[in-house]
Amino acid sequence: MDTEKIEIGDLVELSTKKLVYGGAAIAHKEGKTIFVYGSLPDEKVVARIVRKRKGIFYAQTEEVIEPSEKRIEPACPHFGLCGGCIWQHIPYKNQLAYKQDIFSETVKKISKIYDFEIEPIIPSPEEFGYRNKMEFTFGSDDRGVYLGLHKRWKFDELTPVAKDCLLIPEELRKIVAFVENMAQGEAPYDPRTGKGYIRFLTLRWSFFERKALIGITVTNLIEKEIYKFWFEALSKEFPKNIAGGFITINPAGSSSQGKYIHLFGEKRIKEKIGDKIYTISALSFFQTNPKAAKSLFDIVLEYAEPRSNDTIWDLYCGAGTIGIYISEKVKSVLGIESEEVSIEDAWINVELNNVKNNHFIHGRVNTVLAQLLKDNIAPDTIIVDPPRAGLAKKVIHKIVSFAPKKVVYVSCNPSTLARDAAEFAKYDYILKKARPIDMFPQTYHIESVALIVKK
Ligand SMILES: C[S@@+](CC[C@H](N)C(=O)[O-])C[C@H]1O[C@@H](n2cnc3c(N)ncnc32)[C@H](O)[C@@H]1O
Repeated sequence: MDTEKIEIGDLVELSTKKLVYGGAAIAHKEGKTIFVYGSLPDEKVVARIVRKRKGIFYAQTEEVIEPSEKRIEPACPHFGLCGGCIWQHIPYKNQLAYKQDIFSETVKKISKIYDFEIEPIIPSPEEFGYRNKMEFTFGSDDRGVYLGLHKRWKFDELTPVAKDCLLIPEELRKIVAFVENMAQGEAPYDPRTGKGYIRFLTLRWSFFERKALIGITVTNLIEKEIYKFWFEALSKEFPKNIAGGFITINPAGSSSQGKYIHLFGEKRIKEKIGDKIYTISALSFFQTNPKAAKSLFDIVLEYAEPRSNDTIWDLYCGAGTIGIYISEKVKSVLGIESEEVSIEDAWINVELNNVKNNHFIHGRVNTVLAQLLKDNIAPDTIIVDPPRAGLAKKVIHKIVSFAPKKVVYVSCNPSTLARDAAEFAKYDYILKKARPIDMFPQTYHIESVALIVKK
């Protein structure tokens, strides 16, 4: 086939090469680059072209002609169609090896820093059932109302995966099935027509307490009592596993964040990471794979090499989790976080752990650092754990202005970590070592910790 004529919807035969960040295997055809999903290196597949962006074609494998010897049968029947997992056809030990290689290649290629140590990836203790938070969308078809996730490549279509989802623990799958039954007769919100009102089911789970907070997001609250009845019914059916229930109102149906109304039971659950206890409220950020988070926090501790007289700043601190984990080894910790609910949880967390040397400032990192610069104070070590977009240049500029000896960078995106490491290098802050940690088995996501030191 002449690839000049490749169009979205075409089926093409491809020979795949290595996997890249994002989870696809690369293939080339007559000079064109195609990212092939649902494939492995060194396979011959038939794939459907689903997208073209910036000269790169994206394809989804439909038939495997010559499989890799590594290929396995995916555990989930929805694999391929569901937009959730993309690596269930790869054995876990190979997922880890691919992540190690992709991490190394991505960081080196983007940062152009080659002279640093990359330590071996730390596996997640659980390959499935590891997620403590999941958000499913209400949809409906001829069989009735269901809970699903977006279809891969079709962001306005759902697939009814929720009660089968293997990324959440079994108790949550049962809760989902029960909610699905109760929701028959409700009208799921359809963003294309603006009709309907019930939008998302949010589940937050404590592996420590084996209890859930259940949230329903609506675009329009018609009858609050009905959801209260749902939570009561859930609590009767699963007396040990339901902690509380809430609704959020988001008129655009764009996310589960919105006006929060607590309706039933507890407002918070508690999770344990190492020997620390943390509270999780309905809408605050918390590490999604708490069992793997222990490895992450331990590496932060190892890289920070805390001394009893050290002052630590924990930027993007969420509910104060990392700072509290490190607190007994240092003189003091200052956490900075923009979400008020997380700061509220952080203050509860210091009480829960009887920590006396942590303080938190509510605000955006850039603004708070500007104020701290004026106050003329400085830490020994700065820990950062920013969202996927990484650090803004102006934030890096401020961080180095405090002249910390070390920056410990927790990253959920190797591309932005690499970009930021290159920016730090301009100020003589050198990337010394990094370690990937697998927090998200069955997906391409790579969490890591990097140590950046003052020359
Ligand atoms: C990846 S989470 C890290 C949370 C925390 N370190 C933990 O381990 O739970 C990033 C956090 O940064 C916060 N955040 C995002 N942008 C921010 C900003 N400009 N200033 C302060 N906090 C911000 C988010 O609300 C979120 O809690």
